[in-house]
Amino acid sequence: MIIGIPKTTEAGEHRVSLTPDVVTRLTKEGHEVVVESDAGTAAGFVDEAYVAVGASIGDAARVWSADVVCSVSYPSEAAAAQLKSGAVLLGLLQPLDRADRFPALASTGVTSIAFEAVPRTTRAQSMDVLSSQATVAGYQAVLMAAEKLDKFFPMLTTAAGTIAPSKVLILGAGVAGLMAISTARRLGAIVHAFDVRAEAAEQVESLGAKFVSVDMEQQDSSATGGYAKEVADDTQAKILAGLAKPVSEADVVISTAQIPGRPAPLLLTQQMVESMRPGAVVIDLAASTGGNCELTRADETVVHANVTIEGPTNLASMAAGDASRMYGRNALALMKLFLTEEGVNIDFDDDIIEGSVITHGGSVVHSRVKGLIDGGGN
Ligand code: NAI
Repeated sequence: MIIGIPKTTEAGEHRVSLTPDVVTRLTKEGHEVVVESDAGTAAGFVDEAYVAVGASIGDAARVWSADVVCSVSYPSEAAAAQLKSGAVLLGLLQPLDRADRFPALASTGVTSIAFEAVPRTTRAQSMDVLSSQATVAGYQAVLMAAEKLDKFFPMLTTAAGTIAPSKVLILGAGVAGLMAISTARRLGAIVHAFDVRAEAAEQVESLGAKFVSVDMEQQDSSATGGYAKEVADDTQAKILAGLAKPVSEADVVISTAQIPGRPAPLLLTQQMVESMRPGAVVIDLAASTGGNCELTRADETVVHANVTIEGPTNLASMAAGDASRMYGRNALALMKLFLTEEGVNIDFDDDIIEGSVITHGGSVVHSRVKGLIDGGGN
């Protein structure tokens, strides 16, 4: 099989889909790997490193017309037009946020596989790009906060007196939130965290942070694949009331709360931001889905009442080397499900394939994406 690694053209995207350590596995198995020139350079993987493990360097047309194209994001219109019928495209394709793009892709005969749709099961853990990239984002969010903050994170006892540690509040204790907790703890901050899922409390406390308890019924997410559901209005009001004090006392708030396919829940109102001390910092990781903070603007810095609010949408790209290494290993694990010696075999009896294939054989086959298209919404 010919496997293509395209260069990402989006502004601020430095990741590459497959790194040389993964490519070496593919070439050893007899696959031909074509890398678009400079595809990995921004992540620290130069063309020569790919050639050294048996790949060849080609132009965009050659890469996009491969049998399997492993991308980081959804292709541009020009790139998508070069995909051949029967090819497999895999990447972070935003199936729920941009369902509208898939009918046209389906009509080209491409089998598209979205990492966002890979089920969160034990067997699929090695293919879980959402988790690996959220791990990087959670780490980077803390570094960004530490850089913006006018204070040390750790307590310091010096000849110039004692410096109190920073107080960091994490909202949403999923993959990114838990990584942010452990990173902030390693830097010496006092960390509090909140989540609507009941099981999050124990995980937060196992990392040495304190769970913020709010007077509400915590969610049992075991029936929803581990994901939180949107909360009712009265619960939302209780959450905002319960978070008011911890927010006002925090030097840093890192918010990561998301509901797949829905706008991010509001956890920080303008009034709550105004209660924070001058110099405090908010890093809102939910900016791409509307933000957890009322004042967030995606990929912009907002300063309100002397509080800095950042809404970075691609923090994983800020540690592009390790983010790409993790992405590539996840992608290889997924490719193993359909790459055989004879060619591509899309087996819908496999629950991971069944869950993550969006288009196949000329149609949109993913039921949730189909529902969004039929309903005219995303
Ligand atoms: P996510 O990125 O969709 O959401 C982040 C966090 O925000 C979640 O912990 C969610 O509970 C929380 N949240 C949603 N609404 C909220 C609200 N109103 N207030 C406060 N917090 C709110 O989720 P992520 O990080 O991708 O995964 C969440 C969970 O999924 C994990 O903790 C785990 O239980 C499960 N999971 C399972 C995996 C597996 O079994 N292989 C792999 C990865 C995740």
